[in-house]
Amino acid sequence: MQDKAQFSYHRYVDPKGGTVDRRIFSDPDIYQRELEHIFARSWNFMCHESQIPEAGDYFTNYIGDEPVICVRDRDGSIHVMLNSCPHRGNTVCRAESGKARGFLCSYHGWAFGLDGSLKVVPGRKDLYNGEIDREKWGLLRAPHVATYSGFVFACMDEDAPPLEEFLGEVGKLSLNLIAARGDMVCIDGVQKNVLDCNWKLAVENLLDWYHADITHHSATMAGFIGKPPSHNWHRTMLGEYGHALSGPRMTEETWAAAERGETSKEVRFPEAWRNEERAREMLGPIGRDVKGHPNVFPNVWITASGRQICLRLPKGPEKTELWWFTFVDRGATPEYRAQVASHGTHSFGPAGLLEQDDGDNWIQGTKRTRGVLARKLPFNYQMNLGHGQPHAIDGRSVYIDDHTNEHAHLWLYRSWADWMDAESWADLKANATPVPTEAV
Ligand code: FES
Ligand SMILES: [Fe+2]
Repeated sequence: MQDKAQFSYHRYVDPKGGTVDRRIFSDPDIYQRELEHIFARSWNFMCHESQIPEAGDYFTNYIGDEPVICVRDRDGSIHVMLNSCPHRGNTVCRAESGKARGFLCSYHGWAFGLDGSLKVVPGRKDLYNGEIDREKWGLLRAPHVATYSGFVFACMDEDAPPLEEFLGEVGKLSLNLIAARGDMVCIDGVQKNVLDCNWKLAVENLLDWYHADITHHSATMAGFIGKPPSHNWHRTMLGEYGHALSGPRMTEETWAAAERGETSKEVRFPEAWRNEERAREMLGPIGRDVKGHPNVFPNVWITASGRQICLRLPKGPEKTELWWFTFVDRGATPEYRAQVASHGTHSFGPAGLLEQDDGDNWIQGTKRTRGVLARKLPFNYQMNLGHGQPHAIDGRSVYIDDHTNEHAHLWLYRSWADWMDAESWADLKANATPVPTEAV
């Protein structure tokens, strides 16, 4: 790897000129560094607490492209362990989710407890002469596991800040957009599909409200979705460590405009908040108006409906797996639950109309980042460049109210470069780009 004094990943991102070097979307060395400097260092979304309510309940997920087991222990605590046997690397837990008393490796039979500790080694006395140190050979455990508003996160870096500090205002608001709806539970079955695109292109799309008019025009024509929201009322939020949010504002003003037929009525879901007071308290005055899409850095998308989360899991420089989690109120009727599940299934995921529209654009874009001619051309992120006026929220996050823009996209890549440059959490904290106070 290059000497840091001479090499900075900020060379790929030009926030003043509004461009990003397209090579970052397919370069194998960059991808490897992302796994190490972003995913292995960051807090990663694992599952919702409702997916593992009882002792022994587990859900398998990934940190970067490495499988992990997220499991509830008998004392109620949650552990996250690398899903790889320390003996010869075999995948210890093969199911996507379930209930277990422990985990037995199918190769030579080493057996692990719910906390990952090595309990049984076949032949320990006779073949290992009683000398193998079981204390040392358990599954690798994440040093940090924590929940916020019911969402479970894990971090493999010992030096990481606590989850709430990492999330900041934008990350917490993002998760509360779901949690504020009530006592939410995750519907069984996570929808998964793989696209031949770079994970960052899938992430930036959720911040992008420019494409809906064209990309999703057929969905509008078919009557599956309404007219895309007006570009006039847009709220962007930029948070520390790369968290960002972008999309329409949901205000009395936009509702009146919808009544006049100037924007889509879908900008506002009248049924959205069952408990208006609770929503106001959890989201605050700025968050209460949000109807856009947040991304909890690096790869957790919360949809505008507040009913789905999508993980953009990296599977290679040009491969991304999308995981869709759908949420519903615990007390919902079977009919309403089925309605929410059906809407989720038909919007996004492998059978989702919108994601079929989106996905091919990212695939084509990714392919065109490695041509000898194309790779010399940067991508353009100049929409509203220099005109976005940030308003402070807490010194660690800001919001910008303007028309549709690409401020959040650029913030994502500036933060990406911070993470890629940093050699440790201390380095990241000391040198990360502060949230802007001047026009961006
Ligand atoms: S690989 Fe797991 S017991 Fe040998
Ligand atoms: Fe889209």
